[in-house]
Amino acid sequence: MTTSVTTATIRPWRLDCHVAAGDDGGAADELRRSLTATSPTISPRWFYDDVGCTLFERITDLAEYYQTRTEQALLDARMDDVLGSVRATELVEIGSGAATKTRAILDAMSRAGTLDRYVPFDISPGIIARSASELAAAYPGLRVHGVAGDFGRHLGKIPRRPADGTRLVAFLGSTLGNLDRTARRSMVKRLARLLKPGDALLMGTDLAHDPAVLIKAYDDEPGVTAQFNRNIIRHVNRVFEGDADPDDFVHAPRWNARASRIEMHLRALTDIHWSLPGLGISVEIAKGHTIRTEISCKFTREEIEGLYGAAGLVPQSWDEDALGRYAVSVAVRP
Ligand code: AVJ
Repeated sequence: MTTSVTTATIRPWRLDCHVAAGDDGGAADELRRSLTATSPTISPRWFYDDVGCTLFERITDLAEYYQTRTEQALLDARMDDVLGSVRATELVEIGSGAATKTRAILDAMSRAGTLDRYVPFDISPGIIARSASELAAAYPGLRVHGVAGDFGRHLGKIPRRPADGTRLVAFLGSTLGNLDRTARRSMVKRLARLLKPGDALLMGTDLAHDPAVLIKAYDDEPGVTAQFNRNIIRHVNRVFEGDADPDDFVHAPRWNARASRIEMHLRALTDIHWSLPGLGISVEIAKGHTIRTEISCKFTREEIEGLYGAAGLVPQSWDEDALGRYAVSVAVRP
């Protein structure tokens, strides 16, 4: 067994960055392709510059955005039981963000006496640096090894699993919902590849329910989500020397019932000529047309358990809130 945390040493943390600006050609190629498609889209990864991370934190506090607090309550209630059967020594968290919910998991690992290492993986190196230093200080003895990367391309950069420990991979916040059907099957399979027999995958997923409640969560009264959505233009402008005015776009969320997903779009208020010299393209968006910036799929238990099964994992627990809006589930590698 890996030794559990018994000393009071605050360990230095480490951060590997695979997404430094100008150093990630794969991201530029992907964006060039998606912006020049017949129906232009921008990957939600471009939401999360420092401003976008802060705006997302504000979203998670909104009255309308029930997801984060519902997930937190489920983790608070369930993690001791989960750690009772999966004696995890390390937590690998994909899309760790501000790592607020992480403490519920680390606390349970600490109570179980198994806590050894935390591996946050996120698109934003800044937010990993912040959470890594905070958590290393809050959990003396904890080893923290952050990886800044795009989960579509850099999961292979996650450090090797300790030979004598048990790994828990967490994919929370319903980030799975950002992926279409094909991409989420491959994502869960790639997450499963991080696991050895006895290891587990923990996911938090938003469930299909009342569209009126869902739409409100993406169209809040104070307009924070609208700001978050428009900030994607500012971020892309900054990285690729673009000239679009974010205020020429209006936030346009919609519920796509057939695909069971919220879609966030930016609708052009005028004819837009967006020059992006850093990508070597310019994008024309006619007045009234949109750029889709996000899909946020809403799931059923059957679908999530089907994804686990297709990845060779065995569903172990499923917990949802009383209103059936959100679920936290665990599957193990047999
Ligand atoms: C972090 C992808 C789960 O889809 O609900 C929040 C992002 N977008 N409000 C979501 C988001 C608009 C969020 N995820």
